[in-house]
Amino acid sequence: MVIETKVDSLVDKVDFASYQAKVSEINERIEKKTGAGNDFLGWVDWPINYDKKELEAIIKEAEYVRKNYDVLVVCGIGGSYLGARAAIEAINGVLPNQKLEIIYLGQTFDPTYLAQHLDYLKDKKFAVNVISKSGTTTETSVSFRLLRELLEKRDGVEAARKAIIATTDKAHGALYTLAKNEGYVKFVVPDDIGGRYSVQTAVGLFPIACADIDPREILAGSAAAREDCHDPSLESNQAYRYAVVRREMYAHYHKAVEMFITYVPGFVQIGEWWKQLFGESEGKDKKGLLPDSATFTTDLHSLGQFIQDGSPVFFETTLHLSHHRHDVKVPHDAENLDGLNYLEGRSLGNIQDRAFEGTVDAHTNSAKNNNVILELEKMDAWHLGYLFYFFERACAMSAYLNEVNPFNQPGVEIYKKNMFRLLGKPGFEK
Ligand code: PA5
Repeated sequence: MVIETKVDSLVDKVDFASYQAKVSEINERIEKKTGAGNDFLGWVDWPINYDKKELEAIIKEAEYVRKNYDVLVVCGIGGSYLGARAAIEAINGVLPNQKLEIIYLGQTFDPTYLAQHLDYLKDKKFAVNVISKSGTTTETSVSFRLLRELLEKRDGVEAARKAIIATTDKAHGALYTLAKNEGYVKFVVPDDIGGRYSVQTAVGLFPIACADIDPREILAGSAAAREDCHDPSLESNQAYRYAVVRREMYAHYHKAVEMFITYVPGFVQIGEWWKQLFGESEGKDKKGLLPDSATFTTDLHSLGQFIQDGSPVFFETTLHLSHHRHDVKVPHDAENLDGLNYLEGRSLGNIQDRAFEGTVDAHTNSAKNNNVILELEKMDAWHLGYLFYFFERACAMSAYLNEVNPFNQPGVEIYKKNMFRLLGKPGFEK
């Protein structure tokens, strides 16, 4: 089993059988694309139906970028960058050993962040992957305008055209028109796949390929998860077991918050991607669990007190790896002033696993918090592809169990309208 959904003794009482008929019916809606938001179910079969020619072009262009540039700027926000960042940091780590550095813009208006990044880039050979399905997202468009100006003024219009790759709608929008007029290399965000479900499309796969991670492996892992999700049986379908446990936590145990826990600093961005996926899909009609995240054991030294002893409004979902990729052992010290010789020769993975077990025990048996463990075999591109799809499918099931449309995000528009009015954008005066 690639991922196993385990629940602690406090939630073992979930009567999975009582959910089976509903889950089977929703699964049919997902597979036959008949539920609410069915225009946005393209991701369900994408791992096998993806555009094979485009994938070849993605791999080729990524090779070109790796060969010719020192930095790739990924310029996007929300679903247009979180998945790529999650994958790149999960696989390559927080100190990647790659010639091509990858940095992120387009996700903030903060002038200090932008000024510092533009200053950093001014002497670097950099390419830009601007990613926007709508082609009009203000944060992304403003950053891109600045990046383009820097490239064009410094290297000339022709060189800038080679350095810019646009991922956007296949035939419409401001970015599409600009990319067409300028002759940028273009990749497509499919019409029927929303931002937060788009990591397996060019949105995620081009930056991922630039980071020297094989996009075919991401797709193959997702395809395997798709296969495993086809049978809705709650005895075997781990994604749907997870969805049902979330539903129980929300509706039966009245939890307000789900905390996504990882023990791996390189997985922090998986938590950010996961928060968008579940938050934007489920948080509507005054319903849903608030998705939050923490990194242990780091955050046990900050949030640990609250988690053990504070308001019991949350439950924890820990992504745990069965196998660590590296083996670092605690060395011998003749003086042993730090008293650590009892750990001499022990690997940090082994120590971390004991910390994990001790924490789950403390939070379950002493704090009486509910704990869900998602046991993932290991981390590589294939397993990450599997994990992405696992969460996407679990999220669709969860949202439908809560009777909300998983694929819209009407609430996101309100701040934009206010901001546009305050900025004097034409058409938003009132
Ligand atoms: O999931 C979503 O739909 C959002 O997070 C979008 O991806 C985000 O707002 C960026 O939109 P766009 O790709 O149109 O620039």
